[in-house]
Amino acid sequence: MVSELHSHAARLDGLDLTTLAAARSGETLDACGWHIDLARQKLDAEADAALLEFAAERKISDGISRMFSGAHVNVSEDRAVMHWALRVPPEKATGPAEDVQASLEPVMAFAEKVRDAKVLRGIETVLHIGIGGSDLGPRLLYDAFSQTHLGAIDVRFASNIDPMDLERALDGIDPATTLVIGISKSFSTEETKYNLDRARDWLKKSLGDKWSSHLAIVTANPDKANEWLGIQSDQLFGMADSIGGRFSLWSAGSLSCVIAFGSDWFKALLSGAHAMDEHFRTEDLKTNIPVRLALIDYWNMTLRGVESEMVLAYSNALRLLPSYLQQLLLESNGKQVSPDGTAIPARSIVAHWGGEGSIGQHSFHQWLHQGTSNLAAEFIIATIKGSEPKGTASLIAHALAQSEVLANGYRDDDIAKEEPGLTPEIAKQKVLPGGKPSMIFACRDFTPETLGALIAMYEHRVFVGGMLWGVNSFDQWGVERGKKQAGEIREALVEGKPCADPITQGLVTYFS
Ligand code: F6P
Repeated sequence: MVSELHSHAARLDGLDLTTLAAARSGETLDACGWHIDLARQKLDAEADAALLEFAAERKISDGISRMFSGAHVNVSEDRAVMHWALRVPPEKATGPAEDVQASLEPVMAFAEKVRDAKVLRGIETVLHIGIGGSDLGPRLLYDAFSQTHLGAIDVRFASNIDPMDLERALDGIDPATTLVIGISKSFSTEETKYNLDRARDWLKKSLGDKWSSHLAIVTANPDKANEWLGIQSDQLFGMADSIGGRFSLWSAGSLSCVIAFGSDWFKALLSGAHAMDEHFRTEDLKTNIPVRLALIDYWNMTLRGVESEMVLAYSNALRLLPSYLQQLLLESNGKQVSPDGTAIPARSIVAHWGGEGSIGQHSFHQWLHQGTSNLAAEFIIATIKGSEPKGTASLIAHALAQSEVLANGYRDDDIAKEEPGLTPEIAKQKVLPGGKPSMIFACRDFTPETLGALIAMYEHRVFVGGMLWGVNSFDQWGVERGKKQAGEIREALVEGKPCADPITQGLVTYFS
């Protein structure tokens, strides 16, 4: 089947994207408040049908059923993958989903008590300490809704081990009106423990014995957390083992945001994600959004040699989406072997990066239009009802224009018609080759529900991509080696121990 797909890719390679896209006009999918336009791809009906056959061959439907049944689809860690269970409405949760779902109850109750000043009266700031999945999701959520919840409790984030990150977060805040929340699934992440140590000292220094009431911890490792706390705390919240870090924004990991925006807001986010779960679980492959998107990823990245994928958020509320997706997509599918240890036969996911439109147009879009890289893009256009109409119309216009120009370019004959009289040298420099595929994700009512659906859509697309590439999307062995190496180099820096690598040794000497 893969060789048949390669033949389709070769057959379509030389064809003009504008012509192919015109024939695919109307190739759209709608679900959960999102309208997705798939027309501008180097695909035709035959290639689409072959991709769907490939999905059937890879037993994608079985994989989907297995995940929703609680089977151990995270094979290398022998775990179920249950983030979807956090989104099941409590009255519908059964079996293993019930326990996972029940973990949210105390979180929402605590958040409401803080909001109503029933505990910790006078909290004005939450300091959220975590990294990776324990930071990027809540950071995205807070940034997306802080402007529509003016007057909410302020949330600050510290994640980096660079001492300045915490110092910036602490700047101007008062321990007496601050709740520090430490999020770490493993409770062994160096960066988070370093920042928590410092934050605890900061609380102790001004609050004395009362420090512990200004601290809450979310973890799947309560023993380690209790050992670190050194006292019995009733502000310790659990995270199930079956919730991967980068899938944890639906869990107690978002406590800071639930405190800022309330449990109704959080339930709305979960319900939007659940709607996408139901779409993914029940829809035919042909109209199943995460499946179709993962097939296009496979088409572009593996079969067509696209070198990087741009995520262009035409939505100020979603300006952090590209960095959130980098962890979700790349930590999940940036792998080269299957769970049985054999090398996968073809290239898996490529670099994803992006930014906020229209700001990027005045920066890296020059490269998108005239650079020599083979790339694909996705435009996320999400507007908020009632937002200022003139700016909103321009924002949409710019996004649509970029997608159009990436595909259609600006060719010699257009230039001759529109700008006659240019010198040949200048005319050549104005040429935009076009031929660059993009997808458009459009949402006319950006809300917690539609954001929940969008993130769940990306999560399921990642899972399907993993099945197509033959990798386990739910582990991350590759990040461990660097952590171990850093431990040894720290000893060299602090204790003067020698380093095995001469280049590192030279730099250690420089910093010592
Ligand atoms: O180092 C990678 C990683 O394990 C991510 O997968 C995870 O989201 C992050 O570190 C933080 O881990 P924890 O929540 O256990 O502190």
